Amino acid sequence: DVAEKGGYPDFMLKEIHEQPRVIRDTLAGRLVAGSLVIDELDMTPAELNLVDRVYIIACGTSYHAGLIAKNLIESWARIPCEVEVASEFRYRNPIITPTTLVVAVSQSGETADTLAAIRDARVKGAKVFGITNVVGSPVARESDGVIYTKANKEIAVASTKSFLGQVVSLTLLAMLLGQAVGRLTGRQIKLLFSELADTAEQVERILADCDPAVEAAADAMVDATSALFIGRGMGAATSYEGALKMKEISYLHAEAYAAGEMKHGPIALIDEGFPVVAIATKSPVYDKVVSNLQESRARGACIIAVATEGDEEIAKHANHVIYVPKVRDAFSPITASVPLQLLSRAVAVKRGCDVDQPRNLAKSVTVE
Ligand code: AGP
Repeated sequence: DVAEKGGYPDFMLKEIHEQPRVIRDTLAGRLVAGSLVIDELDMTPAELNLVDRVYIIACGTSYHAGLIAKNLIESWARIPCEVEVASEFRYRNPIITPTTLVVAVSQSGETADTLAAIRDARVKGAKVFGITNVVGSPVARESDGVIYTKANKEIAVASTKSFLGQVVSLTLLAMLLGQAVGRLTGRQIKLLFSELADTAEQVERILADCDPAVEAAADAMVDATSALFIGRGMGAATSYEGALKMKEISYLHAEAYAAGEMKHGPIALIDEGFPVVAIATKSPVYDKVVSNLQESRARGACIIAVATEGDEEIAKHANHVIYVPKVRDAFSPITASVPLQLLSRAVAVKRGCDVDQPRNLAKSVTVE
């Protein structure tokens, strides 16, 4: 058991530490002569150029990877993109035409609702791409094309490395669409690809440096009964995954909100010491996030901020700061998610929870 865990106390921590490798493997061979290549998708640039609507369908953590990708697809390819949980998508009547691209994201490749949604979308004439971690899984077999996330087997029930693999794969897909519709130039593709590749080393640095800050933040949350995770833009998408991770392994009730929504209800929850985890990395909406932190702090919240290295200012607005390296906003979910994974694990360990096998959950959900 100890050998299988590679010297780590649990599989989750081992898998969190594998993420730099996952990023590198997912990117390997994808940039050829300055062009992005994803041959497995079996669609020509001309066919991709016809896509006029994208649906990303998934459940749980995979759905959160989709929320991140929506921002990238709409910003780089200017194609409208909707993200839906598969259990909703399959029971409504989404607008699907032959120029709709459906992207089904599933670590296990066998989630019942996601599979049903794939079948439904194909019957309605959509082209379906699968993004999965399991070679030959039903999602891979039943999709028109598949991208494998290269995370290798994930044992902990809570997804970490497979989530990062999904985010990187979806980022490549967004770049591919941007390239196919002619909105991203060769120069832009090369620059984005090189910065995306750099995140492997940046995640390595986070893993080497952030334990003391994570431990202090976990101490501040361990006795709480509830917590809020907030962010805006890419930070909002990241906060949803942070809250899910926290509740599934530590059983601490955690809810994520787009930070601008605080004043429309959730701020009523805040009293002395209430934990608010904020994604406050440098971005076009940084100042807005800071003002949301101030509103929460004024009401007694204990603020835990994930912020960009070198941002001394943020310490004035937060009780705890966990720093991550500076990356472009598009890639901030890759770096900011890592301390959130470590934070949820640290809280779970302090609360005496079984980190790898949380109660009531299974690694894959093959029933409706
Ligand atoms: C992740 O931490 C969860 N255990 C869960 O939300 C999971 O992401 C969801 O069940 C979807 O699974 P899939 O990616 O295998 O389809």
